[in-house]
Amino acid sequence: MKKILITGGAGYIGSHTAVELWNSGFEPIILDDLSNSDSNVLDRLEEITGKRFSFFKGDCNDKKQLEEISSQHQISGIIHFAAFKSVGESTAQPLKYYQNNVGSLLILLEWMKEKDIQDLVFSSSCTVYGQPEVLPVTESTPRQEAESPYGNTKKICEDILVDYVKSQPGIRVISLRYFNPVGAHPSAKIGELPLGVPQNLVPFITQTAAGIREKLTVFGNDYDTVDGSCVRDYIHVMDLADAHVKALDFLKGQKTNFYEVFNVGTGEGNTVLEVIQTFEKVNGLKLNYEIGPRRPGDVVKTWADTSKIRKVLGWSPKYSLEDSMRDSWRWQKNL
Ligand code: NAD
Ligand code: WQD
Repeated sequence: MKKILITGGAGYIGSHTAVELWNSGFEPIILDDLSNSDSNVLDRLEEITGKRFSFFKGDCNDKKQLEEISSQHQISGIIHFAAFKSVGESTAQPLKYYQNNVGSLLILLEWMKEKDIQDLVFSSSCTVYGQPEVLPVTESTPRQEAESPYGNTKKICEDILVDYVKSQPGIRVISLRYFNPVGAHPSAKIGELPLGVPQNLVPFITQTAAGIREKLTVFGNDYDTVDGSCVRDYIHVMDLADAHVKALDFLKGQKTNFYEVFNVGTGEGNTVLEVIQTFEKVNGLKLNYEIGPRRPGDVVKTWADTSKIRKVLGWSPKYSLEDSMRDSWRWQKNL
């Protein structure tokens, strides 16, 4: 069984990807410093898969930690999720973000070369597109100047990968540009664990429904969209997880010096108000929300053109927005 190192594998997207890798015949090896996750995820993963995954609690900036992993396991590929992801915090503490998000990629690439590990899937983001002029967004839509140090770390990492792949005969890399990941494993055993007040829409919705937050504020209803609220492409985390498995499978069949980027979204945009209505409908709830002012710097509308990933990787989303809202709420209730 091929062993795949998942950095940040105890986190939201990493834990779901561990499940999908296992279901597809890969053995996940998890490295996580638990800076934004909890070790009980390992128990939950065992309940879902029946397998206790190898887990290393450590920092992927720590070369010694990586060497310890390679002394125990023959790693055949890496999915690099580990990063800090709070846009606001990155503006206040940019160095923390550049050090962790960019620094860790450099260390990993060095270690890959030393250990002759060929394949890497990197977590990028639709944030690299900013507010695109033309929709839907294809992979050749120009990237824009980043709105935050966090967003800039994703652009910089992509650029590093382009240069590095050109210089290294032995390496194959895919960057996946995620749109807005939502939902949870249908068992409700794993999901997103936001620390403190959630910044993202769906955790804020579920915490409001659970009574943890008094009400949700919709950031603006006077934009040029169907109902005036902003539009995003909300992708179920299980579909996103599956895209990583397809990416790894695909890399195995490529010649070396390979680099490609793929959008991962549903290909459809939904407004904030549509998300709220869907949440209310599928869960039979009324959500306490009000319309508030615009959030400064918000992208007004973005959604993915998914033709490339459908055609090249043979991936397509299986879950609907209804499924996402059902699973996010199940997870919240289980917390
Ligand atoms: P998450 O915070 O749930 O998971 C990241 C995990 O990495 C956490 O468990 C954290 O403890 C760990 N980690 C952080 N720094 C580490 C380090 N130096 N060494 C070891 N472990 C470390 O976040 P997520 O939502 O699962 O995001 C995963 C990746 O996807 C990130 O790179 C993020 O930037 C990217 N991404 C996320 C979104 C989103 O909206 N969730 C969108 C686009 C891209
Ligand atoms: C979604 C929509 C808000 C909260 C963030 C990161 C970005 C990327 C994806 C990682 C927007 C509205 C939200 C609330 C609201 N992450 N909203 N009330 O804006 O797409 O971007 O996640 O790479 O870097 O910035 O996601 O979940 O913050 O917002 O009305 O309380 O919900 O205005 O339209 P966004 P989000």
